[in-house]
This record gives sequence, C-alpha cells and structure tokens, in this order.
Amino acid sequence: MSAEYDAKGMPFRRMGSSGLRIPLFSFGGWLTLGETVVGDPVKELIKTAFEHGINMFDTAEGYADGNAEIELGRVIKELGLRRSDLVITTKLFWGGSGPNDMGLSRKHVVEGTKKCLERLQMDYVDVIFAHRPDPTVPMEEVVRAFNFVIDQGWAFYWATSEWSAQQIEEAHHMATKLHLAGPIAEQCEHHMLNRERAEKEYAPLYKHYSLGTTDYSPLACGLLTGKYNEGIPAGSRLDTHKDFFKDTLEVLHSDEGKRRIEKVKALTEFAQKELGCSVSQLALAWLAVNPNTSTVILGASKPWQLIENLKALDVIPKLTPAVLENIDKILDNKPKPQTTWGRPGLDKLGRL
Ligand SMILES: NC(=O)c1ccc[n+]([C@@H]2O[C@H](COP(=O)([O-])OP(=O)(O)OC[C@H]3O[C@@H](n4cnc5c(N)ncnc54)[C@H](OP(=O)(O)O)[C@@H]3O)[C@@H](O)[C@H]2O)c1
Repeated sequence: MSAEYDAKGMPFRRMGSSGLRIPLFSFGGWLTLGETVVGDPVKELIKTAFEHGINMFDTAEGYADGNAEIELGRVIKELGLRRSDLVITTKLFWGGSGPNDMGLSRKHVVEGTKKCLERLQMDYVDVIFAHRPDPTVPMEEVVRAFNFVIDQGWAFYWATSEWSAQQIEEAHHMATKLHLAGPIAEQCEHHMLNRERAEKEYAPLYKHYSLGTTDYSPLACGLLTGKYNEGIPAGSRLDTHKDFFKDTLEVLHSDEGKRRIEKVKALTEFAQKELGCSVSQLALAWLAVNPNTSTVILGASKPWQLIENLKALDVIPKLTPAVLENIDKILDNKPKPQTTWGRPGLDKLGRL
C-alpha cells in the first residue's frame, strides 16, 4: 500500500532560518503514541493527519520510553508513506537512566541519534532537537556533536527546545566561531495562557537569527478546549496522567486556575459569537497568525480532535488586527515590549 501526499490547502512556512518547508499545523505524539494510544488507533491518527495535509510528525526519544518512535515508524511503513513527502522531527535528552543516557554529551547525542533511527526504522530524520539545554556540557561539544550527526546524514538540521535566549545566542556564536551550523528553530511552549518567552524573551532572536518556533502544547494540554471548565473528565489527559500533572492540577484548583478558566469561558463566548468557531479553533488560529511561528504542533488522542482542530485554518483570515486587540483585552497577558528608556517611538514603518 502506498499513499500519495495531497496538501489539501495546508499552508507551508520555512522552519526558522532554514529552507525546509513545513506545514503550518503539524502533529506530535507526546503522552499519546505508545502510551494512551497503541496499535491500530495510532495508524488512524497518523492516517487522518496525513489525509488532512499534515506531513510533519514530531516525536522524541523520551516519549513513552522510545515507544512513541516505534509506533510512529511502524505506521509510516504500514501506511506506505513516501519518506520524501514527510518531515520527521525527533528530540534527544531523556534516553534512559544510565549516566550517559541523558543530556547532550557527544556520546549521548551520537548514541541517542542512532537508537532513534533504529526505533523509527529510518535512515535519517529531518530535524533533530536538543530537547532541553544541558548546562553540564560545554557548548562547543554540543554544537560539534549535532554537526557530526548532520555530517553523518542522520539529520538535515538541528534545533533547540526550551533553551533560554541566552543559550540560543551562545549556540549561534559558537557555531559561527567554528564555521558550523547553528540551530534553525526553537520548540517552545506557546499558547494563549503562556506568552512571555515566545513573545518577549526570544524577540531579538527573530530579528538576528530568523529564529522560528515550533509551538508545543498549543491548547495548554486541553485547557483551551474548555474541557476542564467544570472539573476533570474521566479519560482526559489530566485524568490519565494525574501524577505527572500533579502541579498543574494544583494550579488549576487555585485562584490562578480559576482565573484561567474564566478566561477560557470568556474566549469561548467570543469565539462563538464573533467568529462562529470553537475556543480550540480560535486558540490554534491565534498561534498560527503569529509571523514567528513556523508550525503549531497539534496533539490529539482521537482522530475527531484533529479534524475539529484543523478547522482553525478557516479562522485564520478572521483574525484581523481589531479582533486580535479584543482577544488581548480578554487575555490581559500581552508581554510588554522591551523598554526604549524613554526614546520616542518610530513611525509605523520603522523597526525597534
Ligand atoms: N519540546 C517539548 O518539550 C514538548 C513538550 C510538550 C509537547 N511537545 C510536542 O507538542 C505536541 C503537542 O503538544 P500537546 O499534546 O501538549 O498539545 P495540546 O494541544 O496542548 O494538547 C493536546 C491534548 O488535548 C486534548 N485535545 C486536543 N484537541 C481536543 C479537542 N478538540 N477537544 C478535546 N480535547 C482535545 C487531547 O488530550 P485528551 O483527549 O487525552 O484529553 C490531546 O492529546 C506534542 O505531541 C509533542 O510533539 C513538545
């Protein structure tokens, strides 16, 4: 069996500073593939995504202890998807419990990459991410290790995840000094309830390095669907992974959590009345209109969630500057731009 890729109107962007074209909505398998979703339902999810124009799939060595990669690789084979049609990204950091099975030492980057490829049954991934920064390893070693992986043909590009702006800067400076490739993108948590890092801390990097983000947890693990407004539904992520989300559940039950739920309710009303869409679709479209977003990584435990969420594509044209301003009023969390210490503003064509 083989399946031909049809973009079905999916918009494409470049991944950060690279020439790699990626779909505006991609699909990831954290906590689902190999965990709450195994066997045939995995195939249904990947098939649904692919048939709706998603050709980028994100995973990690640490997801379900490697089983997410195994499941993804297996169904890609079974579905007969053409490798060149796909963009596969994986991430290195949590590879096991041994002293060198974790982190970003050259030893783990090289050994970890080989194991990822074995589990995925692939000769290469398109992008390999450093899943977290590793302050215990010299930056020169990290940059050289990822470049070695690229030189072996095991990945085409490397990127970072949850690195600070300072760490991304350091990686770029080191790569420039060594005449090696720097990271092309950053995979960060970015959604309506978490904006500071993506919208403020990284602001200079978008300008200096054409950084792009691959935004994760775009629905705040489901909070932005409204499903947690009245409690924790049985079988939902916060129910099936209650130990992992202990802190999140504590916040949800605090005054801060109640304030977040009130925002979700206000956004739900706005989405329905003003835009004729669901709050999830609004939350996803809102990320997609951000010019620094390279892709929004969707998560889903069931195919219907993917299909519903992809209707966000129809909401994007409705997000005019006036609408975005109204959304900001509801959210009341827009990061303040960097101060210019009293220097007067530039006209609208000038850039800070
Ligand atoms: N780099 C990193 O450190 C990092 C961290 C986290 C995620 N990621 C990547 O980003 C991807 C997406 O993150 P995420 O899974 O946290 O995304 P998310 O969109 O915030 O949450 C997805 C979950 O919300 C629920 N959901 C989604 N759509 C729904 C709908 N329409 N109605 C009701 N429930 C719905 C589903 O969970 P239930 O049905 O189980 O409730 C689904 O699995 C991950 O798979 C992974 O590839 C990366």
